[in-house]
Amino acid sequence: MTAIVQVQKLHKTYGATVAVEDISFEVQEGEIFGMVGPNGAGKTTTIECLEGLRKPDGGTVRVLGVDPQREGQNLCLRVGMQLQQSNLPDRMRVWEALDLYASFYPKAVDWKELLVELGLEEKRNTPFAKLSGGQKQRLFIALALLPDPQLVFLDELTTGLDPQARRAIWDLVREVRGRGKTVLLTTHFMEEAERLCDRIAILDHGKIVALDTPASLIQGLGAEERVVFNVDRPLPAGFEKDFSSPVRLDVQGEQVVIHSKNGRDVPLVSEVVTLLSEKHIQFRDLRTEQPNLEDVFLSLTGREMRA
Ligand SMILES: Nc1ncnc2c1ncn2[C@@H]1O[C@H](COP(=O)(O)OP(=O)(O)OP(=O)(O)O)[C@@H](O)[C@H]1O
Ligand SMILES: [Mg+2]
Repeated sequence: MTAIVQVQKLHKTYGATVAVEDISFEVQEGEIFGMVGPNGAGKTTTIECLEGLRKPDGGTVRVLGVDPQREGQNLCLRVGMQLQQSNLPDRMRVWEALDLYASFYPKAVDWKELLVELGLEEKRNTPFAKLSGGQKQRLFIALALLPDPQLVFLDELTTGLDPQARRAIWDLVREVRGRGKTVLLTTHFMEEAERLCDRIAILDHGKIVALDTPASLIQGLGAEERVVFNVDRPLPAGFEKDFSSPVRLDVQGEQVVIHSKNGRDVPLVSEVVTLLSEKHIQFRDLRTEQPNLEDVFLSLTGREMRA
């Protein structure tokens, strides 16, 4: 496998703020690599250092084998970039933006196809200022894919997009990978990261706190499965003591959540139902929940909201 992005001890500060603290990772050719983390974790700063838009204070960064600070010009032609904050002139029409950007690249893809793939065909003559937030976002993704890049950076891939557009963009990103390209993205949607990414780095306070495939991250948590149901009357005291292996009870109003470590002998859900019936406890809306990336994320980064 070839590392398309190599980061070693990348360090970046803004005045007294350490935005990225000596992080190291590699992105392999042909993978969808995700960065997730709370607001201010250092995702955008890392991507901007890789794009050559910010100068690292320490460490080394190589993108497609070169230092983005030295060969930024050259990289621009081979790397697609969707920035978290972007803008275009208000009066520039969708097709004009695509046509103009296409003229920068020696082998741009046909922008008319991108227009269709991103659902912007009807808006081709609309000025930038009159696009909705999600339509602007789609236009920026189209612009990032325009150079037919070997590597594409997508910062906040689907923020502000509706569920239909989000799914269409997942397909598009998978298709980009299918053509042998590499994708480095950030997202705040854990479901998106879990479904889309081959590997995920979880950042917090400028450091990588975990990096693995979604499945391994979830397994590695020794995560819990859950059974959730509602009751009209409180459960009898000591209900949790009758289980064959330890469970944890979480009661909030009418809702009861029973947590248990994965890999028990008797399936948790059948034991819950048996005990509820034996004790003649009325319950409704019973469902099971498998551990997911959001559980991993919260367990590693906590529940505190960031500044
Ligand atoms: N231009 C800047 N000047 C000063 N501080 C900055 C600047 N950009 C970012 N920071 C700070 O650096 C830290 C990392 O910010 P960064 O934008 O990389 O986070 P992020 O992970 O992309 O967050 P978000 O999820 O909110 O986009 C934050 O503490 C932020 O306040
Ligand atoms: Mg950001």
